[in-house]
Amino acid sequence: MNDPFPPSAAADRIVRGIAVCFDDDPWTAGASVCRIVEDAGVAVADGSILAVGDFASLVKGHPAAAVDDFTGHYILPGFIDAHTHFPQTGIIGAYGAQLLDWLNTYTFPAEIRYGDAGHAAEGAGVFLAETLRHGVTTAMVFATSHPASVDALMTGARDQGRRMIAGKVMMDRNAPAALCDTPRRAYDETKALIARWHGVDRLEIAITPRFAITSTPEQLAVAGALAREHPGLPIQTHLSESKVEIATTARLYPEAVDYTDVYDRHGLLRPRAVFAHGIYLAEREWQRLSDAGAVIGHCPTSNLFLGSGLFDIAKAKRADRPVAVALATDVGGGTSFSMLRTMDEAYKVAHLTGTSLPPLATWYWATLGNARALGLDDRIGRLAPGYEADLVVVDPVATPLTAYRDRFARDHQDRLFMLQTLGDDRTVAATYVAGRCLHRR
Ligand code: GUN
Ligand code: ZN
Repeated sequence: MNDPFPPSAAADRIVRGIAVCFDDDPWTAGASVCRIVEDAGVAVADGSILAVGDFASLVKGHPAAAVDDFTGHYILPGFIDAHTHFPQTGIIGAYGAQLLDWLNTYTFPAEIRYGDAGHAAEGAGVFLAETLRHGVTTAMVFATSHPASVDALMTGARDQGRRMIAGKVMMDRNAPAALCDTPRRAYDETKALIARWHGVDRLEIAITPRFAITSTPEQLAVAGALAREHPGLPIQTHLSESKVEIATTARLYPEAVDYTDVYDRHGLLRPRAVFAHGIYLAEREWQRLSDAGAVIGHCPTSNLFLGSGLFDIAKAKRADRPVAVALATDVGGGTSFSMLRTMDEAYKVAHLTGTSLPPLATWYWATLGNARALGLDDRIGRLAPGYEADLVVVDPVATPLTAYRDRFARDHQDRLFMLQTLGDDRTVAATYVAGRCLHRR
């Protein structure tokens, strides 16, 4: 690991700190899959990681490289948020309602405002800045049903060199007319967005039917057609989040065996398809999701805030029919942009369902785990040569409390677990995107 780069390659920059390198999931593969390199450097050239190893050796090999010295801080791959809604930034923490009332009272009015291009550009800017402040370099994002809202986010993301997945929301019923499209328009607008953005720099378009309640069967058929025409495209929607939602879906789709079957019948279950929530899934649904290689998005702060329920991670982890689970903020049903806050809540929710998450599992989850779930683990999610140089630098002593607690930390594991429990945006010392430092606290 100390000298894996060819002598011809010259690093532009070396980021110095304690490197946290996951090769696999510590929950299933054991703690040894996490390698911690004490005084490490991450050498970067042309937006990619050139080498990770002992800092002194790296400096010798790259005497001309600039050094960003974060000695005593942890360096990890940038956090990945697997499910969020950028137009809901303006309604985060809205009082009182559960899912369907919350959508009607707060969400839909907020999303209607994204029909205005200026409002959308401002919202995209706030979202991109907030994610960077929290160390999130990549996200899988719902825009609104307005294609211009996707343009706003993608334009900002491209300017920052971000890896980003986003989609125009498809919805053609049970919502205000100002947000409704039609099956035809959803198809045409998604096609146009794919042509405009998919594969441009680091951007990808996702097929994005909001959920079964706000799409007619005709529109889900269109989503399925898009999925067939674009086999590798990401898909994102919501599944089995609240009991009222499930009962309503059963009334709207009487022919479906269960909620998962609504999407399955339309060809939407496959790898890179992220189904947010999945709280009340029956055994048959778990089996289908597993067989199809589909992904559940676990959104603990949202599930708690909206009173939706407790996601049972053990059901997804069953070795005989494993289902990939990605970790996500789900802003603005979710209450924080911070993956640290999200990891902490995931730990607590697991406890409430009888599962004790291993101490480093959440750090894997928010990085390589989510990269794998989103099918991006050949590019992001690892500190390894050839990977895109998206990095987060984590400061163990950023707040008075973590600084005090840090004095009694027994080892790296204890310290990282403490930081997940107590940390927030202050804990993020710096965020790098493709080798460029775009946030420094
Ligand atoms: N289900 C359908 N739309 C949404 C949304 O915007 N947020 C959440 N949490 N659930 C949904
Ligand atoms: Zn959501």
